Amino acid sequence: MTEPAHLAAVRASYDAVAADYVRLVIPPQELDPVSRAMLAAFAELVRTSGGGPVADLGCGPGRLAAYLAGLGLDVFGVDVSGEMIRLARLAYPGLRFVEGSMGALELADGGLGGILAWNSVHHTPAARLPALFGEFRRVLRPGGRLLLGGHVGDGRLRPTEAYGHPVSYESHLVPARRLVDLLALAGFTVTTRVEQPHPSRVDRSYVCLLADAG
Ligand SMILES: C[S@@+](CC[C@H](N)C(=O)[O-])C[C@H]1O[C@@H](n2cnc3c(N)ncnc32)[C@H](O)[C@@H]1O
Repeated sequence: MTEPAHLAAVRASYDAVAADYVRLVIPPQELDPVSRAMLAAFAELVRTSGGGPVADLGCGPGRLAAYLAGLGLDVFGVDVSGEMIRLARLAYPGLRFVEGSMGALELADGGLGGILAWNSVHHTPAARLPALFGEFRRVLRPGGRLLLGGHVGDGRLRPTEAYGHPVSYESHLVPARRLVDLLALAGFTVTTRVEQPHPSRVDRSYVCLLADAG
């Protein structure tokens, strides 16, 4: 399959920033209590609704995968950046990390009990979200859980610098309501939506969506 054009920029940018991303971004243990509560709820829901493997999609350096493993989940990570995967394997040799695209997963239909996509779907152009969420639904078993966390808003951002490095990726912000609708179209039911306002911008917020694969 031909790789979508945006992925090359995502890969190159995160390969370049990986080490400084680890240095500059707070680890899951230091996230705000609401985000940690959502991660804990996701872990409990997966465990109590049949379990199964959990994929951390866009896992970066693997810290959330390790955090979920600490909450009792059988988790592995997938990321398009080879450097992020290298750092994840180095930091967490007991966990499995795979280089790949979350939009074209090399996974069987219905084999996962859960998916975490934390701060990672915003690099996918909005027009590609229906296919992306369709892929998430394909690999989850019926009753599997999805936790999606990320910034929402409206518009396409083209930063030239991040984590102290030049970057070429784009971020595509969509309203939370649109994410909920697109997830429904892909066969998910959003059961919990938690929205934390941006500290200074009224047009942005951070959203956690918990969804069931019907
Ligand atoms: C902002 S980082 C977040 C990393 C991690 N989830 C965390 O919260 O620490 C975004 C990550 O998503 C990955 N990513 C973005 N789009 C992806 C895609 N289509 N397939 C796989 N990985 C992707 C990037 O390479 C990057 O490592």
